[in-house]
Amino acid sequence: MTFTIDELDMPESLDAPGGHEFIEYATVRNAIESHTLGTDLLAMGAEEMLAEYRNNPHRVRQHFVVREADAVIGRALVTTRPHAPETGAYLMVDVLPEHRRRGIGQTLLDRAERVARRAAAPVLKVSVPHAVVPGGDRVEPPTGFGELPAGDDGVRFLQAHGYALEQVSRISLLDTPGLPERVAPLRDAAGAVAGDGYRLTTWTGVTPDEWTADLAVLRTRMSTDAPMAGMVITEDLWDVDRVREHDQRIVASGRSIVTAAVEDVASGALVGFSVIVVSAGDPVAVQDDTLVLRDHRGWRLGMLLKSATAELLVTSAPEVEAIVTYNAEENRPMLDVNEAMGFRPIGYEGGWQKHV
Ligand SMILES: CC(C)(COP(=O)(O)OP(=O)(O)OC[C@H]1O[C@@H](n2cnc3c(N)ncnc32)[C@H](O)[C@@H]1OP(=O)(O)O)[C@@H](O)C(=O)NCCC(=O)NCCS
Repeated sequence: MTFTIDELDMPESLDAPGGHEFIEYATVRNAIESHTLGTDLLAMGAEEMLAEYRNNPHRVRQHFVVREADAVIGRALVTTRPHAPETGAYLMVDVLPEHRRRGIGQTLLDRAERVARRAAAPVLKVSVPHAVVPGGDRVEPPTGFGELPAGDDGVRFLQAHGYALEQVSRISLLDTPGLPERVAPLRDAAGAVAGDGYRLTTWTGVTPDEWTADLAVLRTRMSTDAPMAGMVITEDLWDVDRVREHDQRIVASGRSIVTAAVEDVASGALVGFSVIVVSAGDPVAVQDDTLVLRDHRGWRLGMLLKSATAELLVTSAPEVEAIVTYNAEENRPMLDVNEAMGFRPIGYEGGWQKHV
Protein backbone atom coordinates (compact mmCIF):
# COMPACT_ATOMS: atom_id res chain seq x y z
CA MET A 1 0.00 0.00 0.00
CA THR A 2 1.36 3.46 -0.79
CA PHE A 3 0.57 6.71 0.90
CA THR A 4 -0.06 10.15 -0.60
CA ILE A 5 0.63 13.55 0.88
CA ASP A 6 -1.55 16.54 -0.03
CA GLU A 7 -1.82 20.05 1.21
CA LEU A 8 -5.01 20.60 3.22
CA ASP A 9 -7.07 23.68 2.39
CA MET A 10 -8.67 25.18 5.47
CA PRO A 11 -12.48 25.11 5.17
CA GLU A 12 -14.59 28.17 6.00
CA SER A 13 -16.38 26.11 8.65
CA LEU A 14 -16.86 22.46 9.60
CA ASP A 15 -20.09 22.36 7.52
CA ALA A 16 -18.47 23.95 4.45
CA PRO A 17 -16.70 22.05 1.64
CA GLY A 18 -13.53 20.54 3.12
CA GLY A 19 -15.04 20.47 6.62
CA HIS A 20 -15.22 16.69 6.70
CA GLU A 21 -11.55 16.39 5.75
CA PHE A 22 -10.62 18.83 8.47
CA ILE A 23 -12.53 16.74 11.03
CA GLU A 24 -10.53 13.66 9.91
CA TYR A 25 -7.32 15.69 10.29
CA ALA A 26 -8.39 16.83 13.78
CA THR A 27 -9.24 13.25 14.78
CA VAL A 28 -5.80 12.02 13.75
CA ARG A 29 -4.09 14.86 15.61
CA ASN A 30 -6.02 14.01 18.79
CA ALA A 31 -5.49 10.24 18.43
CA ILE A 32 -1.71 10.69 18.22
CA GLU A 33 -1.57 13.04 21.22
CA SER A 34 -3.76 10.62 23.25
CA HIS A 35 -1.50 7.71 22.32
CA THR A 36 1.60 9.65 23.40
CA LEU A 37 0.19 10.87 26.70
CA GLY A 38 -1.94 7.83 27.51
CA THR A 39 -5.04 9.99 27.98
CA ASP A 40 -7.48 11.87 25.75
CA LEU A 41 -7.99 14.56 28.39
CA LEU A 42 -6.23 17.15 26.24
CA ALA A 43 -8.10 16.43 22.99
CA MET A 44 -9.11 19.61 21.13
CA GLY A 45 -12.57 19.99 19.59
CA ALA A 46 -12.52 20.32 15.78
CA GLU A 47 -14.19 23.74 15.87
CA GLU A 48 -11.63 25.34 18.15
CA MET A 49 -8.83 23.57 16.29
CA LEU A 50 -10.10 25.11 13.06
CA ALA A 51 -10.19 28.56 14.69
CA GLU A 52 -6.60 28.15 15.90
CA TYR A 53 -5.22 26.51 12.75
CA ARG A 54 -6.57 29.07 10.27
CA ASN A 55 -4.23 31.86 9.26
CA ASN A 56 -4.47 35.08 11.23
CA PRO A 57 -2.50 38.30 10.71
CA HIS A 58 0.24 37.04 13.04
CA ARG A 59 0.48 33.35 12.16
CA VAL A 60 0.57 31.77 8.68
CA ARG A 61 0.09 28.02 8.49
CA GLN A 62 0.40 25.26 5.92
CA HIS A 63 -1.05 21.81 6.60
CA PHE A 64 -0.43 18.45 4.96
CA VAL A 65 -2.42 15.23 5.25
CA VAL A 66 -1.16 11.72 4.61
CA ARG A 67 -3.73 9.32 3.18
CA GLU A 68 -3.67 5.62 2.57
CA ALA A 69 -6.66 3.59 1.38
CA ASP A 70 -8.85 6.69 1.78
CA ALA A 71 -8.01 7.11 5.46
CA VAL A 72 -5.98 9.96 6.98
CA ILE A 73 -3.00 8.38 8.78
CA GLY A 74 -0.74 11.37 9.44
CA ARG A 75 -0.34 15.09 9.15
CA ALA A 76 2.17 17.91 9.18
CA LEU A 77 1.84 21.56 10.10
CA VAL A 78 4.20 24.48 9.47
CA THR A 79 3.63 27.81 11.22
CA THR A 80 5.51 31.01 10.39
CA ARG A 81 5.29 34.52 11.80
CA PRO A 82 5.15 37.03 8.94
CA HIS A 83 6.04 39.99 11.20
CA ALA A 84 9.02 38.23 12.80
CA PRO A 85 10.59 35.84 10.26
CA GLU A 86 13.81 35.77 12.30
CA THR A 87 12.01 33.79 15.00
CA GLY A 88 11.83 30.82 12.62
CA ALA A 89 9.16 28.27 11.80
CA TYR A 90 7.26 25.84 14.04
CA LEU A 91 6.92 22.35 12.56
CA MET A 92 4.79 19.41 13.62
CA VAL A 93 4.79 15.92 12.15
CA ASP A 94 2.38 13.22 13.35
CA VAL A 95 1.97 9.63 12.15
CA LEU A 96 -0.56 7.19 13.63
CA PRO A 97 1.28 4.54 15.69
CA GLU A 98 0.24 1.62 13.45
CA HIS A 99 1.74 3.34 10.37
CA ARG A 100 5.14 4.27 11.82
CA ARG A 101 8.60 3.07 10.79
CA ARG A 102 7.88 3.14 7.05
CA GLY A 103 9.45 6.50 6.24
CA ILE A 104 6.21 8.49 6.34
CA GLY A 105 7.51 10.74 9.15
CA GLN A 106 10.70 11.51 7.24
CA THR A 107 8.77 12.31 4.02
CA LEU A 108 6.46 14.64 5.93
CA LEU A 109 9.34 16.35 7.72
CA ASP A 110 11.18 16.90 4.41
CA ARG A 111 8.04 18.52 3.02
CA ALA A 112 7.54 20.71 6.11
CA GLU A 113 11.20 21.75 6.22
CA ARG A 114 11.03 22.74 2.54
CA VAL A 115 8.10 25.04 3.30
CA ALA A 116 10.05 26.59 6.19
CA ARG A 117 13.13 27.08 4.03
CA ARG A 118 11.08 28.74 1.30
CA ALA A 119 9.86 31.16 3.98
CA ALA A 120 13.58 31.78 4.77
CA ALA A 121 13.15 30.58 8.37
CA PRO A 122 16.63 30.63 9.98
CA VAL A 123 15.61 28.19 12.70
CA LEU A 124 13.17 25.28 12.83
CA LYS A 125 11.32 24.59 16.09
CA VAL A 126 9.14 21.79 17.40
CA SER A 127 7.03 21.69 20.59
CA VAL A 128 5.64 18.21 21.10
CA PRO A 129 4.44 15.99 23.94
CA HIS A 130 6.46 12.84 24.62
CA ALA A 131 5.51 9.59 26.31
CA VAL A 132 6.08 9.26 30.05
CA VAL A 133 8.34 6.22 30.41
CA PRO A 134 10.23 5.85 33.68
CA GLY A 135 13.79 4.52 33.59
CA GLY A 136 15.95 3.70 30.59
CA ASP A 137 18.20 6.14 28.77
CA ARG A 138 17.25 9.79 29.13
CA VAL A 139 17.82 12.96 27.10
CA GLU A 140 18.38 16.21 29.02
CA PRO A 141 18.24 19.80 27.77
CA PRO A 142 21.20 22.12 28.48
CA THR A 143 19.14 23.88 31.20
CA GLY A 144 19.57 20.74 33.35
CA PHE A 145 15.87 20.88 34.19
CA GLY A 146 13.68 17.98 33.12
CA GLU A 147 14.43 15.00 30.90
CA LEU A 148 12.77 12.81 28.28
CA PRO A 149 12.94 9.07 27.55
CA ALA A 150 15.55 8.52 24.82
CA GLY A 151 13.50 5.65 23.34
CA ASP A 152 10.32 7.69 22.70
CA ASP A 153 9.42 7.68 18.98
CA GLY A 154 9.42 11.48 18.77
CA VAL A 155 12.70 11.87 20.69
CA ARG A 156 14.47 9.34 18.41
CA PHE A 157 13.02 10.93 15.29
CA LEU A 158 13.94 14.50 16.19
CA GLN A 159 17.47 13.59 17.27
CA ALA A 160 17.97 11.56 14.08
CA HIS A 161 16.97 14.62 12.05
CA GLY A 162 19.35 17.05 13.74
CA TYR A 163 17.05 18.73 16.26
CA ALA A 164 18.45 19.63 19.70
CA LEU A 165 16.37 19.42 22.86
CA GLU A 166 16.47 22.92 24.40
CA GLN A 167 13.67 22.85 26.96
CA VAL A 168 11.37 20.44 28.80
CA SER A 169 7.94 21.69 29.86
CA ARG A 170 5.74 19.97 32.40
CA ILE A 171 2.08 19.39 31.55
CA SER A 172 0.08 19.46 34.81
CA LEU A 173 -3.54 18.97 35.75
CA LEU A 174 -5.55 20.43 38.65
CA ASP A 175 -8.91 18.91 39.62
CA THR A 176 -11.55 21.56 40.27
CA PRO A 177 -13.81 19.81 42.81
CA GLY A 178 -13.12 21.49 46.16
CA LEU A 179 -10.77 23.99 44.51
CA PRO A 180 -12.23 27.26 45.91
CA GLU A 181 -11.89 25.96 49.48
CA ARG A 182 -8.32 24.84 48.79
CA VAL A 183 -7.11 28.04 47.13
CA ALA A 184 -8.90 30.58 49.39
CA PRO A 185 -6.20 30.48 52.09
CA LEU A 186 -3.47 30.72 49.42
CA ARG A 187 -5.21 33.73 47.86
CA ASP A 188 -5.63 35.42 51.27
CA ALA A 189 -2.00 34.86 52.22
CA ALA A 190 -0.85 36.21 48.85
CA GLY A 191 -3.20 39.20 49.15
CA ALA A 192 -1.70 40.02 52.57
CA VAL A 193 1.83 40.13 51.09
CA ALA A 194 0.74 42.13 48.03
CA GLY A 195 -0.94 44.73 50.30
CA ASP A 196 -2.93 47.81 49.26
CA GLY A 197 -0.56 48.88 46.51
CA TYR A 198 -2.14 46.33 44.15
CA ARG A 199 -5.78 45.89 43.21
CA LEU A 200 -7.17 42.63 41.81
CA THR A 201 -9.66 42.85 38.94
CA THR A 202 -11.38 39.95 37.16
CA TRP A 203 -13.61 39.53 34.12
CA THR A 204 -15.10 36.85 31.89
CA GLY A 205 -15.28 37.09 28.08
CA VAL A 206 -13.43 39.58 25.90
CA THR A 207 -11.08 42.12 27.47
CA PRO A 208 -12.97 45.24 28.55
CA ASP A 209 -12.05 48.32 26.48
CA GLU A 210 -10.43 50.02 29.46
CA TRP A 211 -7.80 47.25 29.68
CA THR A 212 -7.04 46.32 26.05
CA ALA A 213 -3.95 48.59 25.83
CA ASP A 214 -2.58 47.19 29.10
CA LEU A 215 -3.26 43.62 27.95
CA ALA A 216 -1.34 44.34 24.73
CA VAL A 217 1.69 45.31 26.82
CA LEU A 218 1.38 42.24 29.05
CA ARG A 219 0.95 39.82 26.12
CA THR A 220 3.96 41.36 24.34
CA ARG A 221 6.06 40.91 27.47
CA MET A 222 4.89 37.30 27.72
CA SER A 223 6.89 36.61 24.55
CA THR A 224 10.14 37.88 26.06
CA ASP A 225 9.81 37.54 29.85
CA ALA A 226 8.83 33.87 30.21
CA PRO A 227 11.76 31.40 30.53
CA MET A 228 12.61 30.13 27.02
CA ALA A 229 15.85 28.22 27.69
CA GLY A 230 17.95 28.12 24.49
CA MET A 231 15.00 28.62 22.12
CA VAL A 232 15.43 31.54 19.72
CA ILE A 233 12.90 34.17 20.75
CA THR A 234 11.90 37.50 19.30
CA GLU A 235 9.40 39.95 20.68
CA ASP A 236 5.86 39.10 19.58
CA LEU A 237 4.31 42.54 19.42
CA TRP A 238 0.66 42.95 20.47
CA ASP A 239 -1.50 46.03 20.02
CA VAL A 240 -5.12 46.77 20.90
CA ASP A 241 -6.41 45.36 17.58
CA ARG A 242 -4.57 42.10 18.12
CA VAL A 243 -5.98 41.72 21.65
CA ARG A 244 -9.46 42.19 20.19
CA GLU A 245 -8.85 39.79 17.26
CA HIS A 246 -7.49 37.15 19.65
CA ASP A 247 -10.40 37.43 22.09
CA GLN A 248 -13.00 37.44 19.29
CA ARG A 249 -11.46 34.35 17.68
CA ILE A 250 -11.76 32.46 20.96
CA VAL A 251 -15.31 33.55 21.72
CA ALA A 252 -16.49 32.98 18.12
CA SER A 253 -15.34 29.34 18.26
CA GLY A 254 -17.50 28.52 21.28
CA ARG A 255 -14.88 29.08 23.96
CA SER A 256 -15.04 31.39 26.95
CA ILE A 257 -12.29 33.37 28.63
CA VAL A 258 -11.71 33.88 32.36
CA THR A 259 -9.18 36.56 33.32
CA ALA A 260 -7.69 37.95 36.52
CA ALA A 261 -5.40 40.98 36.40
CA VAL A 262 -3.55 43.07 38.97
CA GLU A 263 -3.50 46.85 38.80
CA ASP A 264 -0.64 48.82 40.29
CA VAL A 265 -2.69 51.39 42.20
CA ALA A 266 0.00 54.10 41.99
CA SER A 267 0.25 54.07 38.18
CA GLY A 268 -3.22 52.73 37.31
CA ALA A 269 -1.58 50.20 34.96
CA LEU A 270 -2.06 46.44 34.89
CA VAL A 271 1.19 44.71 35.91
CA GLY A 272 0.12 41.08 35.82
CA PHE A 273 -2.54 38.81 34.38
CA SER A 274 -3.66 35.21 34.19
CA VAL A 275 -6.10 33.70 31.69
CA ILE A 276 -8.00 30.41 31.52
CA VAL A 277 -9.84 29.34 28.34
CA VAL A 278 -12.89 27.04 28.55
CA SER A 279 -14.20 25.08 25.56
CA ALA A 280 -17.92 24.39 25.53
CA GLY A 281 -18.54 20.78 26.54
CA ASP A 282 -14.86 20.10 27.36
CA PRO A 283 -14.27 19.02 30.97
CA VAL A 284 -10.70 20.33 30.89
CA ALA A 285 -10.06 24.09 30.79
CA VAL A 286 -6.72 25.37 29.53
CA GLN A 287 -4.54 27.70 31.54
CA ASP A 288 -3.35 30.30 29.04
CA ASP A 289 -0.76 33.02 29.78
CA THR A 290 0.19 34.08 33.30
CA LEU A 291 2.69 36.92 33.72
CA VAL A 292 3.80 39.41 36.34
CA LEU A 293 6.00 42.22 34.99
CA ARG A 294 9.58 41.99 36.27
CA ASP A 295 9.45 45.18 38.39
CA HIS A 296 6.51 43.79 40.32
CA ARG A 297 7.74 40.29 41.06
CA GLY A 298 8.24 39.06 44.64
CA TRP A 299 4.87 40.27 45.97
CA ARG A 300 3.01 36.97 45.58
CA LEU A 301 1.06 38.42 42.65
CA GLY A 302 1.47 35.15 40.71
CA MET A 303 -0.36 33.23 43.44
CA LEU A 304 -2.96 35.99 43.79
CA LEU A 305 -3.67 35.89 40.04
CA LYS A 306 -3.75 32.14 39.64
CA SER A 307 -5.96 31.49 42.66
CA ALA A 308 -8.35 34.29 41.62
CA THR A 309 -8.59 32.92 38.07
CA ALA A 310 -9.24 29.40 39.36
CA GLU A 311 -11.98 30.65 41.72
CA LEU A 312 -13.64 32.65 38.95
CA LEU A 313 -13.49 29.61 36.66
CA VAL A 314 -15.30 27.45 39.19
CA THR A 315 -18.11 29.98 39.63
CA SER A 316 -18.45 30.92 35.94
CA ALA A 317 -18.02 27.41 34.44
CA PRO A 318 -18.95 24.94 37.22
CA GLU A 319 -19.11 22.07 34.70
CA VAL A 320 -15.32 22.17 34.22
CA GLU A 321 -13.59 19.28 36.02
CA ALA A 322 -9.92 20.16 35.68
CA ILE A 323 -7.42 22.77 34.49
CA VAL A 324 -4.33 21.92 32.43
CA THR A 325 -1.19 24.02 32.37
CA TYR A 326 2.21 23.93 30.64
CA ASN A 327 5.31 25.22 32.45
CA ALA A 328 9.02 25.19 31.66
CA GLU A 329 10.77 22.84 34.09
CA GLU A 330 13.24 25.64 34.93
CA ASN A 331 10.40 28.04 35.83
CA ARG A 332 10.56 27.35 39.56
CA PRO A 333 8.53 30.42 40.68
CA MET A 334 5.56 29.35 38.52
CA LEU A 335 5.91 25.67 39.44
CA ASP A 336 5.97 26.64 43.16
CA VAL A 337 2.62 28.39 42.73
CA ASN A 338 1.12 25.52 40.74
CA GLU A 339 2.37 22.82 43.08
CA ALA A 340 0.95 24.72 46.09
CA MET A 341 -2.42 24.85 44.32
CA GLY A 342 -2.31 21.08 43.73
CA PHE A 343 -1.36 20.78 40.04
CA ARG A 344 0.11 17.30 39.34
CA PRO A 345 2.30 16.35 36.35
CA ILE A 346 0.63 14.23 33.63
CA GLY A 347 3.23 14.50 30.88
CA TYR A 348 6.15 16.39 29.37
CA GLU A 349 6.64 18.43 26.24
CA GLY A 350 9.96 18.93 24.48
CA GLY A 351 11.06 22.25 22.97
CA TRP A 352 13.35 21.28 20.06
CA GLN A 353 15.32 23.42 17.67
CA LYS A 354 17.48 23.10 14.55
CA HIS A 355 19.42 25.98 13.03
CA VAL A 356 19.22 26.01 9.25
C1 LIG B 1 8.03 10.87 15.20
C2 LIG B 1 7.09 10.28 14.15
C3 LIG B 1 6.48 11.41 13.35
C4 LIG B 1 7.93 9.37 13.23
O1 LIG B 1 7.05 8.85 12.20
P1 LIG B 1 7.50 7.60 11.32
O2 LIG B 1 6.59 7.54 10.16
O3 LIG B 1 7.64 6.37 12.15
O4 LIG B 1 8.95 8.07 10.85
P2 LIG B 1 9.97 7.28 9.90
O5 LIG B 1 9.37 6.00 9.45
O6 LIG B 1 10.44 8.23 8.86
O7 LIG B 1 11.20 7.01 10.87
C5 LIG B 1 11.03 6.33 12.11
C6 LIG B 1 11.99 5.14 12.21
O8 LIG B 1 11.61 4.17 11.27
C7 LIG B 1 12.74 3.80 10.50
N1 LIG B 1 12.25 3.42 9.16
C8 LIG B 1 11.94 4.22 8.13
N2 LIG B 1 11.52 3.50 7.09
C9 LIG B 1 11.55 2.20 7.48
C10 LIG B 1 11.22 0.99 6.85
N3 LIG B 1 10.79 0.95 5.60
N4 LIG B 1 11.36 -0.14 7.56
C11 LIG B 1 11.80 -0.12 8.84
N5 LIG B 1 12.14 1.00 9.49
C12 LIG B 1 12.00 2.14 8.81
C13 LIG B 1 13.58 5.04 10.48
O9 LIG B 1 14.91 4.77 10.17
C14 LIG B 1 13.41 5.48 11.91
O10 LIG B 1 14.21 4.63 12.71
P3 LIG B 1 14.93 5.12 14.05
O11 LIG B 1 13.86 5.45 15.03
O12 LIG B 1 15.71 3.94 14.45
O13 LIG B 1 15.75 6.30 13.66
C15 LIG B 1 5.99 9.42 14.82
O14 LIG B 1 6.60 8.50 15.69
C16 LIG B 1 5.00 10.25 15.60
O15 LIG B 1 4.01 10.71 15.04
N6 LIG B 1 5.25 10.49 16.91
C17 LIG B 1 4.37 11.35 17.71
C18 LIG B 1 4.51 12.80 17.31
C19 LIG B 1 5.95 13.26 17.36
O16 LIG B 1 6.67 12.98 18.29
N7 LIG B 1 6.37 14.00 16.33
C20 LIG B 1 7.73 14.47 16.22
C21 LIG B 1 7.73 15.92 16.20
S1 LIG B 1 7.78 16.67 14.64
